[in-house]
Amino acid sequence: MAVSSMERCVDMNSKVDIETREVNLLVEAIKVFSGYDLSGYAKSSLKRRVKAYIDSVGLKSISELIPLLAHNENYRQKLINDLTVNVSDLFRHPHSYLKMNELVFPYLSSFPRINIWVAGCASGEEVYSIAIILKEFGLLNRAKIYATDINTETLEQAKSGVLRKNLQREDAMRYQMSGGADSLSRYFSTGYGKQKLSQSLLDHIHFTSHNLVQDSVFCSCELVLCRNVMIYFDFDLQNRVLDLLFDSVVNNGYLVIGAKESLDTSRIFRSLKVIDDESRIYQRKAT
Ligand SMILES: C[S@@+](CC[C@H](N)C(=O)[O-])C[C@H]1O[C@@H](n2cnc3c(N)ncnc32)[C@H](O)[C@@H]1O
Repeated sequence: MAVSSMERCVDMNSKVDIETREVNLLVEAIKVFSGYDLSGYAKSSLKRRVKAYIDSVGLKSISELIPLLAHNENYRQKLINDLTVNVSDLFRHPHSYLKMNELVFPYLSSFPRINIWVAGCASGEEVYSIAIILKEFGLLNRAKIYATDINTETLEQAKSGVLRKNLQREDAMRYQMSGGADSLSRYFSTGYGKQKLSQSLLDHIHFTSHNLVQDSVFCSCELVLCRNVMIYFDFDLQNRVLDLLFDSVVNNGYLVIGAKESLDTSRIFRSLKVIDDESRIYQRKAT
């Protein structure tokens, strides 16, 4: 019997609806069994990632993940690790490093100690870039850099200092465009075919787990960077996380978010001065 296009359409719609409900159930199950609250993550991108994930592991439906979560303790953190997007690069968005060199670091030079927090550090490329650029500015010895994430696997990778991908020509180019004054490879040693950030730089970075959704204010910092993390959150969660980031910045300290992120409509906007709009660099007004 021929299936009409109307029937096909109804069938597709109900499938889509079932998948949305399954994702909602999965979010509940993750909260119950793993303690992670993903309810504020943007639904459409979360659904895309869940679907790509079940395809990659050969499951037929999203619901099949729920018994795995319930009965396999090891699976609970693994699923969070597999569902988070951990793309990162050395000197991603070079313009922002140039602007920090020009507009942020000169002000930070007036402090005897500088606390910096890189929230959502993934596998470390961003925080390594910050350490390198601070070293060249002569500020690294005064800096204590904290790098946090919820993904335990990438956090371990970041902590090791070993690059996920050995240095490419594009990394060197972005480093130069960021105002890099030396040769990028100078900051890495090579062993067993892998490149590792120099220990003297790594020693300034403290890696730890921190959940921007559920944990409290992390530090009292002169500079907080949280880039390309909030794009995965819905509007309400973005606002809550922005409040937390703001509360972690000292008066006259700086907040940097991702180039594709915005805080213009957030509660904290009026308490910030725009330092560089393109690079989303803000300074907390003194109260
Ligand atoms: C796309 S990466 C961004 C990496 C880096 N900031 C950059 O711009 O290159 C996003 C990171 O945010 C982390 N993340 C997602 N939700 C988080 C949360 N609730 N708390 C802390 N980190 C989170 C992910 O695990 C991932 O490593």
